[in-house]
Amino acid sequence: MKIIAGNWKMNGTRTGLETMVRDLSSVETENTVILCVPFTMLGVKSDCVALGAQDVSRHTHGAYTGEVSAQMVADTGAKYVIVGHSERRQYHHETNSIVRDKASNALANGLIPIICVGETMDEKQAGKTMAVIESGVRESVPSDVNTDIIIAYEPRWAIGAGLTPTAAEIADAHALIAKTLADMGLAGTPVLYGASVKGNNAAEIMSIPNVDGVLVGGASLKSDDFIPIITSVK
Ligand code: PGA
Repeated sequence: MKIIAGNWKMNGTRTGLETMVRDLSSVETENTVILCVPFTMLGVKSDCVALGAQDVSRHTHGAYTGEVSAQMVADTGAKYVIVGHSERRQYHHETNSIVRDKASNALANGLIPIICVGETMDEKQAGKTMAVIESGVRESVPSDVNTDIIIAYEPRWAIGAGLTPTAAEIADAHALIAKTLADMGLAGTPVLYGASVKGNNAAEIMSIPNVDGVLVGGASLKSDDFIPIITSVK
């Protein structure tokens, strides 16, 4: 069983989500299917798929105009929240320590954080991929985790670019993450791969050791693209 998570980013409408939920309801799968959608779509009825947010405030409540707290996300019935997505790190300058605060808030409110880590092209070219991944995990995961979390490895240079690392690169990254999590007392934590996952590469990617599922951006927006990913693995 794998975890197939979609990330709609700043796309879609409530009606579009209702249509997607209807399309997904006829899909037979034992995989866990999650859709992380904009805040405004949380609360749409979705029996066959768990909903998640794409970000959450690092603050718990108060005078933070425009922010949405973990408690508010949980109040919609959502179960998951992505934290530290590369677009948040890039456009909103989120550091590992901010991401850790957000993950802590999620956990304190019963949400499962999907904590993203991954290297930029500059870091890759400088030979820092493994160091960035390991520090990303060590510094972004709260120290007091005693419940479910999910990690997503997303090579930042490959997101939305139609590029994917080689199978060996993905295997190395996931082996390092699994080892780091084990060192931290979090063995068995699911680790997703994300960046340019499509129907035609999903099965191969999910056959790589320590890849427990995928986080899908562009190809999660239409059921014709998303369903083949969900059904590509048993
Ligand atoms: P992509 O996005 O599948 O469009 O590359 C992945 C992500 O940002 O999670």
